Amino acid sequence: MATVIAGVSGAIGSALAQRYLEARPEQSLIGLCRHPERVPQALRQDSRVHLLAWSADSQGQVLMEQGLQALLDAGGGVEDLIYAAGLLHDDGLFPEKRLDELNPDNLARAFEVNCIGFGMLVKTLAGGLRGKHLKRVVAVSAKVGSITDNQLGGWYAYRCSKAALNMMVKNLSVELPRRYAPVACVALHPGTTRSALSEPFSQSLAKLMVHEPSETADNLFGVIQSLSEADNGRFISWDGRDLPW
Ligand SMILES: NC(=O)c1ccc[n+]([C@@H]2O[C@H](COP(=O)([O-])OP(=O)(O)OC[C@H]3O[C@@H](n4cnc5c(N)ncnc54)[C@H](OP(=O)(O)O)[C@@H]3O)[C@@H](O)[C@H]2O)c1
Repeated sequence: MATVIAGVSGAIGSALAQRYLEARPEQSLIGLCRHPERVPQALRQDSRVHLLAWSADSQGQVLMEQGLQALLDAGGGVEDLIYAAGLLHDDGLFPEKRLDELNPDNLARAFEVNCIGFGMLVKTLAGGLRGKHLKRVVAVSAKVGSITDNQLGGWYAYRCSKAALNMMVKNLSVELPRRYAPVACVALHPGTTRSALSEPFSQSLAKLMVHEPSETADNLFGVIQSLSEADNGRFISWDGRDLPW
């Protein structure tokens, strides 16, 4: 059995990968990211870790498919799939404060990384896993993707693409049990975590509880381990509480 983590180069993805390797020494880990050479050395040097080049766009998806299929054929199935890739800002995108800043290219890029990449990865994996197991599908989402909880506005691209990710999770939670029951497909808010993604906001974050990536990995791993069929279709916070969609 293997675990698949997309975005394994990120702060949360790599810490979670490390946590899995410690807790499940008998399992292998398939890590997907744009630049496998930038993944922390401890992961690159672990013989249980198989890194595949992947990106959330369609080209990156195709690049990864063959390598993934070979690993799936050689293994006994996938216990957990974790989608830990995400985009809040990059060279051309910074969270919008107001409508004037809305930009179609930025919106499209955010949707690609935060939602489309997840859906396409589940599709690829499901295609390659016929007759094998898939127990838990976890999309690392964000509380700011909650429609009900949105009191502040702004951050259009991030909020909208995470809300779309949540709907993708909800849809999959209806369809996946037809193939893989028992299975749990959930959206998981990791809590504010020190990372490249949150770094530009470190001053305003000073008022909030900010977790180190290893703490977040412990929190998320605890929630993921506790998931059963009964949790399928939930939007869950890092401390196990339900979040409003
Ligand atoms: N940190 C927080 O406070 C916080 C709070 C709420 C939710 N989250 C969510 O947690 C998840 C992980 O974030 P993080 O804090 O660990 O951030 P991070 O360290 O910046 O990691 C982001 C990950 O996404 C990947 N990524 C970005 N663009 C991509 C693309 N086009 N194709 C494929 N992968 C791409 C990055 O790959 P590269 O290494 O190649 O750039 C990296 O692996 C995200 O979904 C984020 O929205 C984080």
